[in-house]
Amino acid sequence: MTMWKKFDFFSKLTELFFGKDKYPQAYKKRTLARAGAQFVVETMDTRHLDDVMELQRRVYQGETPWQPAAFLVEMHNPLPHLYLVVTHHGKVVAFIGCRVTNQDGHITNLAVDPAYQHRGLALFLLQEIAAFAKSLRCSSLSLEVRLGNLAAQRLYRKFGFITKAVKVEYYTETQEDALDMIYLFEE
Ligand SMILES: CC(C)(COP(=O)(O)OP(=O)(O)OC[C@H]1O[C@@H](n2cnc3c(N)ncnc32)[C@H](O)[C@@H]1OP(=O)(O)O)[C@@H](O)C(=O)NCCC(=O)NCCS
Repeated sequence: MTMWKKFDFFSKLTELFFGKDKYPQAYKKRTLARAGAQFVVETMDTRHLDDVMELQRRVYQGETPWQPAAFLVEMHNPLPHLYLVVTHHGKVVAFIGCRVTNQDGHITNLAVDPAYQHRGLALFLLQEIAAFAKSLRCSSLSLEVRLGNLAAQRLYRKFGFITKAVKVEYYTETQEDALDMIYLFEE
């Protein structure tokens, strides 16, 4: 069985548990021009998972912090959620995920292929997630980021996130602390 077919099978299983995903239609596929290149931004689905795994390996030195099952569960989550991919010539070059609880859009995941960084893709994805959360009347966005991940912290501060707290040894495998960051929508 090819990987794609395997993911599709798991996707159908997840659907049996959680029902059909109600949220993919929340985002209308669009194109984006950045630094002379044309990108497509659309909802993540099972067909993208092989690429998303490869992208994680490029970003995280061969590691895949999130396994396909974790994405599948999120993509079928009964809570409002939005998982987006950016593709270039059909290949996934960036993705972001967000799940909404108690009027807060929690960003679970964000990565941009090293070859496509510094073109504003991450900022664009944050804006799209903010628009989604706002459409659901959220009052905030939130996320955790490693204390040592200064590049991501700079991105989040540039967007308007502030640090709410430090979560001590939040990443259990490395005992690294996390910054708990929040972005408040204006009234
Ligand atoms: C962090 C990350 C998502 C940024 O993606 P990106 O598309 O390159 O970011 P953008 O081009 O939208 O950058 C916007 C701003 O973020 C900040 N920034 C982004 N990358 C940076 C870097 N390597 N060093 C310092 N600041 C950085 C800058 O303020 C930048 O604005 P500028 O270009 O005007 O200086 C990307 O580097 C990445 O995937 N890193 C590995 C995975 C990761 O850390 N994910 C976040 C987990 S919490």
